[in-house]
Amino acid sequence: MGQTLLIQNATAVLPDGVRQADVAMMGGQIARVGAPGKRLDPSGFETVIDAGGLALLPGVIDAHVHFRTPGGEHKEDWDTGSMAALAGGVTTVLDMPNTDPPTVSLEALGAKRKAVAERARVHYGLFMGATRDNLEQVLAADNIAGLKVYMGSSTGGLLVHEDGPLARIFERFPGTLAVHAEDEQIIQANSLKYRDAVAPGVHHLIRDHLSARRATERAIGLATRFDRPLHICHMSTAEELELVRAAADPRITCEVAPHHLVLTQEALDEMGTLAKMNPPLRTAADCDALWAGLAAGAIACVATDHAPHTLKEKAGSYWQAPSGVPGVQHMLPILLDAARRGRLSLERVAEVTAAGPARLFGIQGKGRIARGYDADLVLVDLTATRTVDRKDVLSKCGWTPYEGMTLTGWPVVTILDGQVVYERGAFPRRVAGREVRFG
Ligand code: DOR
Ligand code: ZN
Ligand code: ZN
Repeated sequence: MGQTLLIQNATAVLPDGVRQADVAMMGGQIARVGAPGKRLDPSGFETVIDAGGLALLPGVIDAHVHFRTPGGEHKEDWDTGSMAALAGGVTTVLDMPNTDPPTVSLEALGAKRKAVAERARVHYGLFMGATRDNLEQVLAADNIAGLKVYMGSSTGGLLVHEDGPLARIFERFPGTLAVHAEDEQIIQANSLKYRDAVAPGVHHLIRDHLSARRATERAIGLATRFDRPLHICHMSTAEELELVRAAADPRITCEVAPHHLVLTQEALDEMGTLAKMNPPLRTAADCDALWAGLAAGAIACVATDHAPHTLKEKAGSYWQAPSGVPGVQHMLPILLDAARRGRLSLERVAEVTAAGPARLFGIQGKGRIARGYDADLVLVDLTATRTVDRKDVLSKCGWTPYEGMTLTGWPVVTILDGQVVYERGAFPRRVAGREVRFG
């Protein structure tokens, strides 16, 4: 990695604010950030990019993706997932364990590591999944992002919802517990109640507000009891946000997914099963509360829960169609568009997409534009307006729930290890993604 790259004249989102800056990269790291008003000498650099006023952000860290290896490669693989990520300014992803087989043993973790290393074109970390009896394996694992606990059933068979096994996990796992917080008993009871329903609009009634609140309450209770770090994945309701706020513990954190910010439960009537995901879409009031929580710093990160399924799979009936939507390509445009509308500042966008997840999961050397950090960056055009179109989707699933949305603010150039890997719709070179270090 001897490459050198200089970005001149960027509006850079730096740890201490937004300002014009030249940024020099060498050997995959940020070698220098020019002082205010000072230009760096371009002589000697192999590549020089005049950013001409484009904004420069730290590469997005998406702390929640399902890239489907192994076993779901007909929906996504690390080539297509990586390309969708890079086009969306995402340079690091944390991958979930509900694959086939699931990542619940050292053997499965090792096999996934090998398969991902061969194909990844973004940097990555891997979660393990909790079962009722795999704690010893999890405790013996090296360098995992955390342990994902499905308290409610979702795609794949992972589920731990009984008191005993749950308490043991919270008692013994010292790392970050990332929970899918939906209450299994409530889901089961509501499924019975609505068993004759055929319209997808029933989804948010089955997985209702109470099911989210109960599970989040329970997880916070366990984390407090055992004094453990807890991360609530894809939080969808205002009530859960209040619970996290009330806990007032910096080690109890939450993330929000872009679909829970910009789509509401009415989308189930309009898009059918394409708008079916777990937890489900909620009300406009929930969206507003989540936006406000993001702007106020109550939500640690935005993560996509990128969960592709094929159109054919989605074409099944409400009960058959799998839950999940893609998102990794469109999260940053959605947030940049929101920034332009005044929903949150550009500094907060960088915080919740890069510095925040890096800090939360302890990802070393990433998430900031500062000397010595890894040179994973994205140049964005804050004035470019485009309408989201299925034909531009790079995920293997070939569709997006954001179809038809007109957004202002798009990635133009994505840089991985100090090399241009995406530029205006093209992928000029292939750089291998590497597993990140946690700690
Ligand atoms: O909607 C979802 N899809 N929620 C999950 O918890 C899993 C995900 C998937 O893997 O498809
Ligand atoms: Zn989940
Ligand atoms: Zn997920």
